[in-house]
Amino acid sequence: MTFFIPYVSILSAQEKITLIDANASCVTASCHSNMGKKKYVHAAGVDARFCVKCHEIVKDGEHTFRKISSNTRTLCIQCHGEGIKAPAELKDPPPRIVFEDKNMQFHPLFIAGECTACHDAHESNFYKHLKVQYPDEFYALYTEKTYALCININCHKGFEKALTAPRTLTDTMFRNGNVNLHYSHVSIPKGRTCRTCHQICYPQHVSKNPKLIRESFPFGKRALTLTFEKTETGGDCSTTCHRTSKYDRYEPVFNLIKTVPPPGNDATDEELKLSRERDLQKQEDKEGTKEDNKQ
Ligand code: HEC
Ligand code: HEC
Ligand code: HEC
Ligand code: HEC
Repeated sequence: MTFFIPYVSILSAQEKITLIDANASCVTASCHSNMGKKKYVHAAGVDARFCVKCHEIVKDGEHTFRKISSNTRTLCIQCHGEGIKAPAELKDPPPRIVFEDKNMQFHPLFIAGECTACHDAHESNFYKHLKVQYPDEFYALYTEKTYALCININCHKGFEKALTAPRTLTDTMFRNGNVNLHYSHVSIPKGRTCRTCHQICYPQHVSKNPKLIRESFPFGKRALTLTFEKTETGGDCSTTCHRTSKYDRYEPVFNLIKTVPPPGNDATDEELKLSRERDLQKQEDKEGTKEDNKQ
């Protein structure tokens, strides 16, 4: 009898169809009247004039809409694409972002066009109308809650160790020997938010760096520079924040900057050697999988 169930549900869905006047507003005292009340509002997402930019009516006069794909790239590009003429009725100009650039690295969800995995198209109580908590200030001590957007069961699962373990040889590649540099930047009272170093959505041409490391970051009204060079075994970072410093996972570098060493002991030479072998193995496994996928 299973075939019967979808048939019933189609029928009941059809019964619910409301007739509408295509010229009437979507936001009135009785329709969608709750929109636009949250803390961070996407002007275009709650403005009755723009609903149909994203919601395509299936049949004139009926309140039924084409399903929106989880890839919303073509919808967002209408206003946020570079060099695209945004609708004249907009009060504020939309920030323009880079959707494509061969020389740049993008977050995988961004490439997939899954904008609404992170942003609510209409409004939310979180910064940049993100769907989940992400800090809006420059400094934020790491807690599981503050970064719920990045660290949750679907994304960067288990990454909290990379942020909270003072020392590690396995949880992150951003380490000097076993000193965890994610911890020392993020898990301190004046913790630097991820955006200090990583760029997620690109307002301008800002980064050609691996790991989405940006070339400058906003600090108040200023843009401070950040020059990052990734090496085989670590990196080299020059910024306005501190003297040029280097890190190396297997041969820890001594840097001339004042920092409090994290609790725990430095790794022994033997442990460092083992961690190098482990990382190499991981790298090979990863490349192996890529090859397999190609075949
Ligand atoms: C920028 C694109 C965009 C605009 C503009 C937009 N929406 Fe949406 N809307 C979406 C997407 C995408 C979804 C699917 C839910 C998701 O992915 O978060 C959605 C879902 C909805 C839903 C289903 C319930 C929900 O919130 O998930 C309603 C109702 C809705 N929109 C009403 C409106 C109304 C009314 C307007 C105009 C005031 C509007 N939308 C403008 C993109 C948009
Ligand atoms: C009809 C034009 C239009 C469309 C389509 C559109 N936007 Fe926007 N967007 C704007 C405008 C105008 C602003 C600037 C005003 C504001 O912040 O709401 C903006 C601002 C934003 C901001 C920055 C908000 C802030 O607080 O600075 C984000 C994030 C954003 N849009 C995401 C999206 C996403 C994701 C989509 C696709 C699902 C999308 N937009 C589709 C017009 C649009
Ligand atoms: C992995 C999560 C994620 C995805 C996927 C994502 N964004 Fe964002 N987006 C962010 C975050 C986080 C910010 C805020 C960056 C910051 O200020 O640190 C942001 C900022 C923005 C802004 C504001 C830029 C500015 O100058 O204020 C726009 C516009 C935007 N995103 C549009 C998009 C569009 C369009 C897509 C899909 C092609 C998309 N985003 C996909 C997380 C995401
Ligand atoms: C002080 C700069 C800085 C801050 C702040 C920062 N990162 Fe990173 N992150 C890096 C660098 C540099 C790398 C590249 C390490 C390598 O491969 O040598 C990296 C790598 C990563 C990786 C790749 C896996 C790994 O650990 O090697 C992820 C995921 C990541 N960061 C997420 C985050 C998140 C989430 C936050 C915010 C909670 C954050 N980062 C804050 C500098 C930073």
